[in-house]
Amino acid sequence: MPETSVLYVLNGPNLNLLGVREPDIYGRETLADVQALCERAADGASVVFRQTNHEGELIDWIHEAREKASALVINPAGYGHTSVALLDALKTLTIPIVECHLSNPAARERFRHRSYVSPVAAGVVSGFGPFSYELAVKAALRLVQERRTAADRSV
Ligand code: DQA
Repeated sequence: MPETSVLYVLNGPNLNLLGVREPDIYGRETLADVQALCERAADGASVVFRQTNHEGELIDWIHEAREKASALVINPAGYGHTSVALLDALKTLTIPIVECHLSNPAARERFRHRSYVSPVAAGVVSGFGPFSYELAVKAALRLVQERRTAADRSV
């Protein structure tokens, strides 16, 4: 993967408490552990890894990703189930988006079955704990590579 690829990995509310928050669901690894995992998985691409508890800040970072990122991995956490504003922000992106969850929301409470992110995601990885992030990073970088190859072929 060329050095010029920049992958944004954005995390929504309460994920700062990973490791202590409902460990039976989300595990014992911290968000710092997840960040290290993403950086290892990125294979030389640079990773911008952030977490916020504020919807507007998440949206600002998505706008920033429009200018700076080659792809976006997002764990929207609770906002994924509630935020039309998040969907609207994501709709402004043309880069690949991969939705990522530690748990499998489809196997949990009904209110977690709706995702405002999935309609604009290239794909969703959920249910594998921190490994979901590793898979999501690999998938996002694969999509970037595929787009580059397709663009090269068309010139
Ligand atoms: C989560 C799943 C969401 O339903 C929940 O609100 C979260 C975390 C996950 O990673 O499994 O905060 O996105």
